[in-house]
Amino acid sequence: MRDSQAIRNIRVEDYPTRGSFQERIEFLLQFGILAPSTHNTQPWLFKVENNICKLHYDKARILPAADPKQRDLHISLGCCIENILTAAWVFKLSADVQYFDSKSDTLRAMLTFRDDPVKNINEKYLSTMQSRVNVRGFFDDLPIDTDILDGIELLEDNIELKIIINKKVIQEISSLSLDGITKAYGNDEFRNEIGTWVRNNFSGANDGMVGHSLRMSTLVSVVFPFMVKRVNLKNKVIEINKKQWETVPGVCVLSGEENIISWMKVGRLAERCMLLLENKGIRSSIFQAAIEFDYLQEGLKKLLKMKHLPQILFRVGYMTSIQNTFSRRLLVKERML
Ligand SMILES: Cc1cc2nc3c(=O)[nH]c(=O)nc-3n(C[C@H](O)[C@H](O)[C@H](O)COP(=O)(O)O)c2cc1C
Repeated sequence: MRDSQAIRNIRVEDYPTRGSFQERIEFLLQFGILAPSTHNTQPWLFKVENNICKLHYDKARILPAADPKQRDLHISLGCCIENILTAAWVFKLSADVQYFDSKSDTLRAMLTFRDDPVKNINEKYLSTMQSRVNVRGFFDDLPIDTDILDGIELLEDNIELKIIINKKVIQEISSLSLDGITKAYGNDEFRNEIGTWVRNNFSGANDGMVGHSLRMSTLVSVVFPFMVKRVNLKNKVIEINKKQWETVPGVCVLSGEENIISWMKVGRLAERCMLLLENKGIRSSIFQAAIEFDYLQEGLKKLLKMKHLPQILFRVGYMTSIQNTFSRRLLVKERML
């Protein structure tokens, strides 16, 4: 079994300053794989040649039931790209990113690196990427400021970011989200799929969502993957989530166009926001249930008066009682083409 912490102990002093581009890029990819991904599928594959890193998606890691449009897969790739670039900026490298969306090819992005410190970024981000977790549970009863993300560089005009702290609006967002859960759990294929991606607390798997990260006791983590495939656990899941939603002090929503390239850019920006918040001690909790169904996504767009459709939603706030174990990862060398 791989230690979930060990992969996060990346030693900055091991960065091969005088190494080839290939060696340096492979070092940076260690930060890329720490990005959040839908169901912890880690759908990225890398091919590094000289100063170019090609990012492909892994067809075997698509979630047909939970993510039929592959929105979340591409948002996950975007989060991974943002981590790689953030690490690159710290080490005084920069990279041009080209995006691809061909249906007949798995290539999604090409990162061309240069020795060129275009961005001055705090070294603290290296440890932030290693300590970030997607939290679940009860938030502390502490407000957050609305100006926390002021000045963040949006990646393009078509992407809009909103932070909601109004309790009444958060309650309406929570209703839409819980409707999404009801709808998802009513689908046998969704339940079958989630049952194959939730791991019990003893599991040695290096992907998927381990019970403790979902706040499950060891017993529940053993039973849940079997049960969920056979029984609609909707009522229990709603009951738990409803209580958690009541404690949410803030919600961030990013909207953008509904296409592959826009999703990758939304993913980059979402990760940029989550890292910035994490630096300020504010934790993030992605919750896509309302985004996954067209009528709920439309409802959210209307509620928040956004120009485009919402593409990612994450709850934000302080959480002292976070889970103290991390989700595991496949190693960089296991994700190389
Ligand atoms: C695009 C995307 C969608 C996600 N959707 C959800 C979600 O709806 N509910 C949830 O609890 N976690 C969601 N997550 C969080 C992942 O489950 C989490 O990132 C993954 O299990 C790895 O854990 P870590 O981020 O703590 O390392 C999502 C993550 C991404 C990137």
